[in-house]
Amino acid sequence: MMVNPPKVLVIDDEEIARVACRRVLSREGIEVTLAPSGREGLEILARDPHDLVLVDLKMPEMDGVEVARRIHELDPSIVIVIITGYATVESAVAAMKQGAYDYLPKPFTPDELLIVVRRGLEKRRLDLESRALREEKAAIERNFVTMVTHQLRSPLSAILQYFDVLLEGIGGELTEVQREMLERARERLQGLLELINDWLDMSRIQEGDIVRRLRPVDLAACVDEALKGLEWAAREKDVAIQVQLPEDLPKILADPGSFREVLSNLISNAVKYNREKGVVVVRAEACPGGVSIQVTDTGFGIAETELPFIFDQFYRGKDSRVRSLEGTGLGLAIAQKIVRAHGGCLRVRSELGRGSTFEVIVSAAGGDNVTNGTR
Ligand SMILES: Nc1ncnc2c1ncn2[C@@H]1O[C@H](COP(=O)(O)OP(=O)(O)O)[C@@H](O)[C@H]1O
Ligand SMILES: [Mg+2]
Repeated sequence: MMVNPPKVLVIDDEEIARVACRRVLSREGIEVTLAPSGREGLEILARDPHDLVLVDLKMPEMDGVEVARRIHELDPSIVIVIITGYATVESAVAAMKQGAYDYLPKPFTPDELLIVVRRGLEKRRLDLESRALREEKAAIERNFVTMVTHQLRSPLSAILQYFDVLLEGIGGELTEVQREMLERARERLQGLLELINDWLDMSRIQEGDIVRRLRPVDLAACVDEALKGLEWAAREKDVAIQVQLPEDLPKILADPGSFREVLSNLISNAVKYNREKGVVVVRAEACPGGVSIQVTDTGFGIAETELPFIFDQFYRGKDSRVRSLEGTGLGLAIAQKIVRAHGGCLRVRSELGRGSTFEVIVSAAGGDNVTNGTR
């Protein structure tokens, strides 16, 4: 908020005028600094920020228009009032164009000075207040998703555990109907938790954090990590996951935590949108400047018309088979965001009814960087 008391700098080459201003303004509880030239005024502002500056238009060394321009270069939020003689209203207009807020024609009475300065300080107060509000709003927006999702996650996880316990029959035998209802409720809850986790991921991914954590990563280990937690879904659908990585594959330059997330999102889609007894192959090869990783499935494929949208947040395929499966539509958006933060690219080829291949290209550790020419 505004420094209390308000600080006003008076830049005028005439001493009598400077001193008169100070007398009037300090009576109002305003802290007043005086400078005899634009250069000295700018020096003062550089080390000691003020709320408002009164600048005389006609000064020998540097005129008021130039001073106003430089003050705003230094700090665009300072309110500038130009003091001008009758003859120079045109130059006052020029000064206003340089961002001066108001002007005061000479000679002026103490009251006139006070009115203009009070108005300028009021503007300053409102500017600062709205800036603070804007910043506060931005901070709330930034943290909102994280806050809400965190708050939701723990009670929902607790509820899920109660369901598990009940389904295990620990609370007593369940009738067939009860069991079915509980299972359905449990499934919905699981879906909700997935959504929350995806939201959290989406809001947490910060490019700067990923760049800071980049280091040489062994892709095979990263794939292994990604496969944990997907085995159950693959077995359920009788989908075989084959990993084919060459022995001499260079290490990739990646943030291991988030890159594993990319792989697990791609592989889980490849399993989920596959046919029964389908196959998922994870391949990789060195390519100029980097490593290309491909996840190929024998699943539904994606219609040409849908391809431009699948990386959008919350987009889910229109296919009824896709719709019958739980999902948040965030998996690919998250993967895309992470890959881009790596300076890499993510793209897809697909044929309806035959399957899809998602390809990630990232830099190899120690190699050239991938230039994002593609997609
Ligand atoms: N391997 C795949 N095969 C077929 N369709 C896919 C595949 N991966 C993604 N899709 C399509 O892209 C959409 C968005 O995927 P994603 O962002 O992971 O969200 P979700 O899986 O939650 O629907 C999916 O709804 C689906 O239509
Ligand atoms: Mg998905």
